[in-house]
Amino acid sequence: MNPRPDPGRRADGLEALLATKEIVVFCGSGGVGKTSMAAAAALQSACRLGGNVLVLTIDPAKRLASALGLEGGLGNVERRVPDDALKRAGIEPRGELWAAMLDTKQGWDELVLRHAPDEETAMRILENRLYHNITARFVQSHDYIAMERLYEVHGTGKYDLIVIDTPPTRNAIDFLDAPARMADFFGGRLLRWLTMPYRMGGRRGARMINVASKPFYQMADRILGSQFLQDIAEFFLNFQSMYDGFVERAHAVERLLRERRTTFAVVTTLEAAPLREAEFFMEQLLARKYHLGALILNQTLPAYLRSPEGARVADLLVTDPDPAARALMDLAVPALEAPDRTARVLHTVGESFRNFSVVAKREAELRGELADAPDVVVDVPRFEGDIHDLAGLVEVGRTLFESDGSRRG
Ligand SMILES: Nc1ncnc2c1ncn2[C@@H]1O[C@H](COP(=O)(O)OP(=O)(O)OP(=O)(O)O)[C@@H](O)[C@H]1O
Ligand SMILES: [Mg+2]
Repeated sequence: MNPRPDPGRRADGLEALLATKEIVVFCGSGGVGKTSMAAAAALQSACRLGGNVLVLTIDPAKRLASALGLEGGLGNVERRVPDDALKRAGIEPRGELWAAMLDTKQGWDELVLRHAPDEETAMRILENRLYHNITARFVQSHDYIAMERLYEVHGTGKYDLIVIDTPPTRNAIDFLDAPARMADFFGGRLLRWLTMPYRMGGRRGARMINVASKPFYQMADRILGSQFLQDIAEFFLNFQSMYDGFVERAHAVERLLRERRTTFAVVTTLEAAPLREAEFFMEQLLARKYHLGALILNQTLPAYLRSPEGARVADLLVTDPDPAARALMDLAVPALEAPDRTARVLHTVGESFRNFSVVAKREAELRGELADAPDVVVDVPRFEGDIHDLAGLVEVGRTLFESDGSRRG
């Protein structure tokens, strides 16, 4: 079943975008709201567009994970968010919402089992003392596994829409390169060099004859102990047996990300650093021919802070708060008995509005200056408190889908 918007109901912005795509990748710099926006967009899609919608989250906050039914360390297993839980949050979804959480360790194990030439090699890798350490520390290990999982899940054909969250990388662009880097690594010089003496001694004969003749290996042998060096080499030799599978797979993941059915939603706040990174990221996506579908400006200030009417009220409260204070006093609220104090509070409120209004105008300027922005630009205001339950996700999701979706809105 393909997700289809309600006939007769006009859909545009993010909703229209998600109705025509199978994969949407939420990306952006650390802490800008990727996980929250991805979960909210998935829930909203299940509600309005129908079909089977999966959100693949990465390290969600505990409360959000449990709201999505992901507690209990089930890792990569996809679970359906129960209709009961949705109903309790006041939601009647047209489709099914599924959720999963990325488990990097499990992702690696599955990868090894899939690509190792035989079961014996797979077991040797999985049992190697270095294996866990290396895969856990591997630069961009998370990125690669996230993309890998996406490919795997998409291949099952079970979902009409997959919304994928991305890891908090130092640089949002990292995960785009992850498949290619992984392929490079496996075919790279470092691995060839590390394993050279062992390869010379034959694949299975891990102990080599010619080690003693090479000063580097001789020294490493003395410092690290021969067992250590042997472990490393054995590990990489086994790992290299998966090279072809890995490279082929990395290219397939890259192709999937480039297809028309995949789109990217860049999330950012309007603070200088994340915004700069979002701009760079959008530029890179376009340059590399990925589909840039939406820009989500999270935690923005509301438009009324920029309205002339609001400014007039604030001016009045700052310059002459007394009439407003007297009008309030006429309401005979007991707490407002002291007219001076009421006037001072109103004055402060007016000033505070003016301050917020300066920030809101600055935000609007930054928004207007954005280069390479896609057709769909969505504002999400800052909500009170964290977004940690289904009701919160519904609220965010509505904003995502109902924002006018225009470039300058
Ligand atoms: N519009 C918003 N209003 C209020 N709180 C928000 C909003 N957006 C995000 N948050 C809160 O900000 C925090 C960070 O959000 P989130 O975890 O979604 O960011 P992230 O980009 O996934 O972070 P990381 O890069 O660490 O994965 C969370 O506590 C979330 O509830
Ligand atoms: Mg996150």
